[in-house]
Amino acid sequence: MNFYSEEKWIDWVDQLSQNDYVIIDDFLSPQLYSQVRSFFLQKLEEDEFQRAGLGSVFNNVLDTKIRGDFTYWLDKGRDEELNAAFDLIEEIKSTLNRYCFLSLSGYEFHLAYYPEGTFYKRHVDRFQDRSNRMISVIIYLNEGWQKGDGGELKIYKEAGDIIVDPLAGRCVMFKSADVPHEVLPTNVGRYSLTGWMLYQPSGVGYILG
Ligand code: OGA
Ligand code: MN
Repeated sequence: MNFYSEEKWIDWVDQLSQNDYVIIDDFLSPQLYSQVRSFFLQKLEEDEFQRAGLGSVFNNVLDTKIRGDFTYWLDKGRDEELNAAFDLIEEIKSTLNRYCFLSLSGYEFHLAYYPEGTFYKRHVDRFQDRSNRMISVIIYLNEGWQKGDGGELKIYKEAGDIIVDPLAGRCVMFKSADVPHEVLPTNVGRYSLTGWMLYQPSGVGYILG
């Protein structure tokens, strides 16, 4: 059973290939949305989030000048409450493989929490030492978000930058290597489910997800 029809997927995949990004509103059903959001709130309550880093070349002080989010990495085997969300992620993966001829073999996802006053400066998601991120997927969980709350996603495009409000249930996908973007300073706690569909060159022999 698929979440979305062939027709919808073809439209979204077309936008992704032509514009390098696609924005899909109400990507999560109300039921799935509340599952993911309650899981998020539970993990926040349990203090399971950790400061996100940028890797060994940066030290922690510098990190906070670049990004201020906290993350909780998901594990399909452990985080069973999110089974339905993982099914949807699998559908994204198989659809992109089918229509975009991508060899995606896995994915990595985390919950991201940006406390008030934090941001993530302009960057691309394919790091130099991690060349296997193909498609970035972000699903926002900000109930009642309004103008002035901040934390918009800014996508840099030659034709003009795009500002994406982080609305509850909205999904943004973009090409990880090609789309510079930034999270503008947020004035309220900002919640998302964020991940990357991964390319695994054949022969390497490990599969995530
Ligand atoms: C990221 C990122 C954007 C967003 O986590 O790499 O750019 O809107 N997130 O949360
Ligand atoms: Mn990013």
